[in-house]
Amino acid sequence: MNWRSTHAHWGVLAKAFHWLAALGIFALAAIGLYMVGMPLGLAKLKMYLLHKALGITVLALVLLRLLWRLFDRHPRYPPGMPRWQVGVAHASHALLYLLLLAVPISGWVYNSASGFPLPWFGLVDLPAIAPVSKPLAHLALTVHETAFWTLAALVLLHVAAAIEHHVRQRDAVLARMLPWRTRRAHAISDGENP
Ligand code: HEM
Ligand code: HEM
Repeated sequence: MNWRSTHAHWGVLAKAFHWLAALGIFALAAIGLYMVGMPLGLAKLKMYLLHKALGITVLALVLLRLLWRLFDRHPRYPPGMPRWQVGVAHASHALLYLLLLAVPISGWVYNSASGFPLPWFGLVDLPAIAPVSKPLAHLALTVHETAFWTLAALVLLHVAAAIEHHVRQRDAVLARMLPWRTRRAHAISDGENP
């Protein structure tokens, strides 16, 4: 089991960060879109608390992933892949990371500017990161929603690109990111893809 990524494969940590963050984003999107329409009451409050605590967890995962990325390598792209495609992949991943930071941080700013507390699963109370201010809360919420929908659109393109690699280009770009080892991922070795 390789913790670090190699020239040909993603390591266990990079895969774990990717899939945990992806799972978290899907859950947060569902909870966020559902909770805003709930009638006022204890159930709504509990959903908001869950959304915020899970959102902070995803923020921590993304920060850890970015830190680990400094010490980890990025597997090489298939030799025949055009340079422009590699450029688009790098640019879209950079934008994904930017949005993965912007969405939870704007949520945290909104929460702080509205004067709401931020308990993390009842274990610690996280501090406010902005002063209480109505205009700031309004701005932060607009950023939270806009950044979220931009992220959702980019994730759709991201998934389409992964499927395109797997089905049309028939390379190992998707296979080597999957949590389990597929036959296609097995077929490439570090020696074959130096
Ligand atoms: C990556 C993490 C996150 C995602 C994907 C996400 C996504 C969403 C979505 C889709 C909504 C519904 C927007 C709407 O239709 O109005 C929402 C609302 C909200 N989010 Fe997040 N969120 C994240 C993190 C956070 C964090 C960390 C906080 C606070 C600490 C937070 C606080 C809120 C609040 C308070 C609302 C409700 C706003 C309202 O009542 O109109 N979110 N979020
Ligand atoms: C909310 C959902 C998702 C987010 C936010 C996300 C984000 C990212 C990011 C930021 C990277 C770049 C990793 C790095 O270089 O450090 C990445 C890589 C990757 N993702 Fe996702 N992802 C999501 C869902 C998915 C899904 C559902 C699939 C598959 C169908 C997928 C397939 C891949 C693949 C194959 C790579 C590696 C690309 C490469 O080799 O450069 N992702 N993802």
